[in-house]
Amino acid sequence: MIYDNHNRPITYVRLAVTDRCNLRCFYCMPEEGIKYLPKRQILTFEEMERVVGVLVSLGVQKVRITGGEPFVRSGLMGFMHQLSRLPGLNDISITTNGVLTGPHITAMAALGIKSVNLSLDTLDRERFRQVTRRDDLPAVLKTLDGLLAAGIQTKINAVVMEGQNTQDIGPLVDLTRTLPVDVRFIEEMPFNGEGSHYPKLHWTHQRILNEIRAHYPTVQKRMDAPFSTSTGYQIPGHQGQIGVIAAFSRTFCGTCNRIRLTAQGTLKTCLYDEGVLDVRALLRNGASDQELTAAFRQAFSHRPVNGFEAERNRATLAESMATIGG
Ligand code: GTP
Ligand code: 5AD
Ligand code: SF4
Repeated sequence: MIYDNHNRPITYVRLAVTDRCNLRCFYCMPEEGIKYLPKRQILTFEEMERVVGVLVSLGVQKVRITGGEPFVRSGLMGFMHQLSRLPGLNDISITTNGVLTGPHITAMAALGIKSVNLSLDTLDRERFRQVTRRDDLPAVLKTLDGLLAAGIQTKINAVVMEGQNTQDIGPLVDLTRTLPVDVRFIEEMPFNGEGSHYPKLHWTHQRILNEIRAHYPTVQKRMDAPFSTSTGYQIPGHQGQIGVIAAFSRTFCGTCNRIRLTAQGTLKTCLYDEGVLDVRALLRNGASDQELTAAFRQAFSHRPVNGFEAERNRATLAESMATIGG
């Protein structure tokens, strides 16, 4: 097991397999999309597999595949199959928008994919179209049904946005009544690819919780899993659970066990840092596994204590969540 300079174990890597996406969620990227990286600048699946192997030898046990939208990249299932054969890697999970996911559910279940986090901000077709700038709600709902039918642990991610989907908080919570699905509400973060013009967070985790309480006064706090970003709640009698992720307020940095690898192979030891290691350059300059290991050890010994410190140390936040990898 490897610990960082604040004594936090590093056991979880978030791996962005692409910066491309088939939706245009306005809190993530502008209508025209972001400037996508040329293919040769993106790590190959072989390169990613090698990096994950080195990280697993250092103590990483969990990989979450993110993007962009992971299923936009062809060959994703083959890559996940390769990862599933890595000894020591106990958990392969994926975060997806669900538009292209449906046809792969059976194969994912067969591979033992631990959980799927599905981005779904509203159950209303028109509001979905407004938020994502695409009319794909039916495909996403079909994916949700398919995941639950296949018995894959599924969590819905809903970013709460003033003037967009606050009326969806109640209906999304209602899903947990009859479905074994977790619904997590997320504070909006300043990563929309256009610069940080979010002067104020309207929907803090407290306000989101108050809104849930207004619909369900019996809501109760649950014990949280260690290292969870989400604060868990449950409505007595409901099958699924609820969570609130204080992503903007960053209340969970003290137990952060996660690092990120962007699609172009930059290591981030915090969501809010600018990237601390060019892993792609090491790989393509012929670094040995020992050299990679040493570079990771060095980076882990300089992690910021929290996202506020990391944010202070950088020039700009004008990034898209699709390049960061969520
Ligand atoms: P699991 O614990 O593996 O289920 O992952 P998760 O819920 O953290 O991952 P997911 O991809 O579903 O992301 C949910 C939300 O949490 C997204 O808005 C992420 O950007 C946010 N998030 C994930 N990790 C961090 C982090 O380290 N810091 C902050 N501030 N937000 C994060
Ligand atoms: N703020 C909060 N969450 C975001 N996501 C994407 N952009 C933002 C943002 N600006 C969420 C997506 C997805 C997860 C990986 O990150 O909804 O579920
Ligand atoms: Fe695509 Fe996810 Fe960004 Fe939406 S939030 S545009 S689904 S990468």
